Amino acid sequence: MVSLAKKIQGLKERRDAVILAHNYQNPEIQDIADFVGDSLELAVKAAEEENGLLVFCGVRFMAETAKILSPRKRVLLPVARAGCPMADMIGPEELRALQERHPGAVTVCYVNSTVQVKAKSDITVTSANAVRIISALPRDREIIFVPDRNLGAWVEKETGRRMILHPGCCPVHQGMGPDDIRARLRENPGAVVIAHPECPPETLALADRVLSTGGMCDFVRSAGEGTFIVATEMGIIHRLARENPRAKFVPVTSRAVCADMKLTALEDVLAALENLEPEIILDEDLRHRAELPIRRMLAGGIPAA
Ligand code: 13P
Ligand code: SF4
Repeated sequence: MVSLAKKIQGLKERRDAVILAHNYQNPEIQDIADFVGDSLELAVKAAEEENGLLVFCGVRFMAETAKILSPRKRVLLPVARAGCPMADMIGPEELRALQERHPGAVTVCYVNSTVQVKAKSDITVTSANAVRIISALPRDREIIFVPDRNLGAWVEKETGRRMILHPGCCPVHQGMGPDDIRARLRENPGAVVIAHPECPPETLALADRVLSTGGMCDFVRSAGEGTFIVATEMGIIHRLARENPRAKFVPVTSRAVCADMKLTALEDVLAALENLEPEIILDEDLRHRAELPIRRMLAGGIPAA
């Protein structure tokens, strides 16, 4: 019997498609993907990719970012309801009200946001570039940062810039507390703690390194061996373990699971390739307005006036 993975491979070649997967995806999805990466790497890859058909295994905001950057490509999100609860914590009306209370502020939006919120923002960031981009913003401007209060607080600490923080957060990372880190450290003395900036500040205070998911992969690769306590969604451990067979990885808690990231199964990828849906369709005016803040991020910041 032909395995699902083989069927996907065959159909992918016939359709001339590229499969992109986020670092949190199920192991079998990572294994059939052409490229596995963090939000920034996937956005760059989607923009560069020559092929006209992208199958995006991740959550909606990531597939939307790919579509915003590549309007002529067909972008499929195999499970249409795979969303990000944090991205849905702020809508365009709430952002407009915040902007009206702070006229003149620069609006920075985490890429984990809806296309409507991106369209009302000056620039987007990911966890991989937030510190660099925000530290380069003009000193005389207030900064509104949405929707992740934890990433925002970490950027404030790293850059010394004060920002107006929206109170949103990732429910999965919010549940990774300092007590979890202490317990894992007692069980694994001497282990290195790597944490995602979506974790609460008390957790980040106990981390050796605060990194995006792509940053974690680079950091562990350069270390090569050792024991790492991983304070982010545990799907990344599949990739870390595959790339670093001499290292040991300990999830910070068994609760470190993003249900939305786990929705995509091989059957869904095959069905998407067969039926060419579910497809990301965006209103062209909205897409166009959301493109500038992402392009500014990819260019490294907002050009001086
Ligand atoms: P990265 O950009 O670090 O991959 O993070 C995305 C995300 O959704 C974290 O929860
Ligand atoms: Fe959204 Fe959190 Fe899931 Fe990342 S881990 S996709 S921020 S809910």
